[in-house]
Amino acid sequence: MRKITIAIDGHSSTGKSTVAKQLADYLGYIYVDSGAMYRAVTLFALRKGFISENHFETHKLIQSLSEIQLEFKKNKEGKAEIYLNGENVEKQIRTLEVSEFVSPIATVSEVRKKLVEQQQQMGKEGGVVMDGRDITTVVFPNAELKVFMTASAEVRANRRFHELKERGDVITLEKVLENVTERDTIDANRKDSPLTIANDAIVIDNSETNQEDQFHILLQLAKDRIAGRV
Ligand code: CDP
Repeated sequence: MRKITIAIDGHSSTGKSTVAKQLADYLGYIYVDSGAMYRAVTLFALRKGFISENHFETHKLIQSLSEIQLEFKKNKEGKAEIYLNGENVEKQIRTLEVSEFVSPIATVSEVRKKLVEQQQQMGKEGGVVMDGRDITTVVFPNAELKVFMTASAEVRANRRFHELKERGDVITLEKVLENVTERDTIDANRKDSPLTIANDAIVIDNSETNQEDQFHILLQLAKDRIAGRV
């Protein structure tokens, strides 16, 4: 059976990763969480002191990019986790602190160039589901299936708030909502590869769709393309 490329972009906290993972598992495809890569670079920059509340030494980050090595490895349950220079940072990259700095980091063209190259390499054989902000437009503009996911900011903030609470993070819903909307603004307005809806993307608003239904909608779209019906 032919292996296609499935590219999913969308606003923050729309459940892209969840449905992308479900699809990849079902189809036996590789799943790549491109956001995890931007988050890992952000963690690196925070640890090095290149970025904080009121300063960002872009040139130092750019100079150090060759020191950053990222890879995904599967854990015992078969879930892909991200490694930064050999260290598993899957948990550390999901904090609100990293979320607060990731969008400024993702505006830096040199960072994007490095990560896009690695993403294209990972998906070059097809049989890949990748989610992010520029997957349908820059990383895989020729993907057979392109999806843009969105939902109301309140719904998205609520989902992320519960995820973070479940992990034991001490946060407020207001802070999470602020972060979600701020990231949307930066991601959609940056110069390099802004978040935008590709002409041929299918837009899904999942404010009122549960995960199960959403998975089946996307699976049907994928099956139609694998079978060459679309
Ligand atoms: O929190 P959420 O799952 O919505 O976001 P993410 O996929 O983990 O991405 C975190 C941030 O990385 C985004 O807000 C973007 O600033 C950046 N990003 C990007 O610029 N391009 C991508 N392909 C993926 C993420």
